[in-house]
Amino acid sequence: MKFTSVVTSIAVLLVSAVSALWALPISLQPRDVFVPPVTYPHNKTVWIVGQHHNVTWDTSDAPVNITNKIGMIFLRKGGLTTNLSLASNFSILLGRIVVEVPHVETGRDYQVVLFGDSGNFSPFFTITNV
Ligand SMILES: *[C@@H]1O[C@H](CO)[C@@H](O)[C@H](O)[C@H]1NC(C)=O
Ligand SMILES: *[C@@H]1O[C@H](CO)[C@@H](O)[C@H](O)[C@H]1NC(C)=O
Ligand SMILES: *[C@@H]1O[C@H](CO)[C@@H](O)[C@H](O)[C@H]1NC(C)=O
Ligand SMILES: *[C@@H]1O[C@H](CO)[C@@H](O)[C@H](O)[C@H]1NC(C)=O
Ligand SMILES: *[C@@H]1O[C@H](CO)[C@@H](O)[C@H](O)[C@H]1NC(C)=O
Repeated sequence: MKFTSVVTSIAVLLVSAVSALWALPISLQPRDVFVPPVTYPHNKTVWIVGQHHNVTWDTSDAPVNITNKIGMIFLRKGGLTTNLSLASNFSILLGRIVVEVPHVETGRDYQVVLFGDSGNFSPFFTITNV
């Protein structure tokens, strides 16, 4: 699932409008939004609290100039993004990052969300607190 950053687009439009008005000497370079799909965890994944796993995503469509190369991963539960950060400040071009499964309650409604330019959700998967 994807969502694009409307706020960013509006901000960019405003900045462009203002700079046109005042003719500020700024240089704009072409940048592409990159929202790679998460490939692991998937809907058959079961994680146990305290384990380490590679979250993986597909970088094969990565454009040359990416707006934001810095990634962040948060845990979601029941379709809502939690404040549990699993990883941050890594390059979105890596395609994988090791995370530690946080001490959360058992559930089948977990997802991770990978943020770069925008967010991409994994399928629902299971975490068990044994
Ligand atoms: C899991 O994903 C596979 C492949 O995308 C899909 O065919 C299957 O229906 C999914 N199963 C569940 C329980 O969501
Ligand atoms: C993560 O992936 C790397 C490269 O495939 C592998 O060397 C490493 O053992 C993996 N780590 C975990 C916790 O699975
Ligand atoms: C990427 O950025 C460089 C330097 O800003 C520029 O020269 C190049 O044309 C850009 N390439 C693409 C595919 O946008
Ligand atoms: C996350 O939210 C919970 C509940 O509001 C709070 O107790 C906790 O300190 C927060 N954790 C972080 C890392 O912000
Ligand atoms: C993010 O990573 C870069 C490169 O590894 C490092 O220089 C920087 O200090 C890190 N920033 C934070 C907030 O951890």
